[in-house]
Amino acid sequence: MERLGFCIIGCGGIAHLHAEGASSCEGVDLYGCDIDIKRAEELMGEFGGKGVFRDYEEVLRREEIRIVDICLPHHLHREVAVAALEAGKHVLLEKPIASTLKEADDIIEAARRAKERFGTKFMVAECWRFYPPAVKAAQLIEEGVLGEPFLVQANTFAYYVPSGWRRKLDEMGGGAFLDRGIHFVHMTIWLGGGDVEAVFARTTHRTVREMEGEDSGFAMIDFKSGVVGQVNVSWGTISPPRLPNIAVYGSEGTVYDLDGLYLAVKGREPVKVEESRLEPWMIPEEVRHFIGCVRTGAEPAVTGEMARLDLEVVLAAYESARTGERVTLPL
Ligand SMILES: NC(=O)c1ccc[n+]([C@@H]2O[C@H](COP(=O)([O-])OP(=O)(O)OC[C@H]3O[C@@H](n4cnc5c(N)ncnc54)[C@H](O)[C@@H]3O)[C@@H](O)[C@H]2O)c1
Repeated sequence: MERLGFCIIGCGGIAHLHAEGASSCEGVDLYGCDIDIKRAEELMGEFGGKGVFRDYEEVLRREEIRIVDICLPHHLHREVAVAALEAGKHVLLEKPIASTLKEADDIIEAARRAKERFGTKFMVAECWRFYPPAVKAAQLIEEGVLGEPFLVQANTFAYYVPSGWRRKLDEMGGGAFLDRGIHFVHMTIWLGGGDVEAVFARTTHRTVREMEGEDSGFAMIDFKSGVVGQVNVSWGTISPPRLPNIAVYGSEGTVYDLDGLYLAVKGREPVKVEESRLEPWMIPEEVRHFIGCVRTGAEPAVTGEMARLDLEVVLAAYESARTGERVTLPL
């Protein structure tokens, strides 16, 4: 089996789970890159890495490194992703694809050119695509078990005070709705059928004053099919009650994910149809998926265009919250 050099650029908080995923794959040589070289050294020490770099441009010059896994603050996504794609690397890029549509378009175009020129793969690391209850809910919708879905809900409520670049609007690109909420926007679009027509939203900022962006956001997504999506996101809720991560309501039944996915069809008690494994499990899984795509040539599960639509819906929500208007797509 051909050996694959895999370098994580940005060895901070989320990199640990990426390293766990990459190091569990056969034939992978792990490397780390961070401007804070100690972070790269520590991570590589823990996962048996083969080397560390301070400068990402040096990573891109190394032929043995075939896959670059970008785990950087949002304002650096475009610069590093485009450079890596132009250097002919396969690129796995943490969500959000970027924080503006122009940056997202630059990345998508660079990925298209790199695919044509070098045959490289590109995927946005939207880990909730690998969340078993969401995968099962999508399957049940597809099989028609819920009849005609009319409402898709996604909820993520917590109390969380971010630090560092996450507090700054120009580095983060937004607040809780962009950072955490985009996962739940992704699942709502996926389960709602994908054809987004318009977004109506509110954001609030009353609890987590340490950050410049909003700490909470609530959006309604209208799909062209008539399905309605509802995404509720907060980092400012103290001891929130448990709400389903996702719920889909249809003419013949309901699915909701509390501690696993429950299916209720007319006239029957709800039954558990899928377990929820712990959330962090999804990230090593998505890394293994991407490495598998590089090896086999299969298409990655999350395309740049899907991640762009997630971002467009978040930006439409911001626009709606700012103007008080319902915002139609495309932006
Ligand atoms: N999938 C998820 O659930 C999830 C969870 C957390 C974070 N993320 C995403 O992962 C990305 C990183 O987030 P994080 O929480 O790990 O951030 P972090 O701040 O913990 O880590 C970022 C790292 O990048 C390094 N860095 C900064 N500039 C650099 C440069 N020019 N070259 C090399 N290294 C540089 C920093 O020193 C730091 O170690 C973001 O896109 C974020 O949205 C995803």
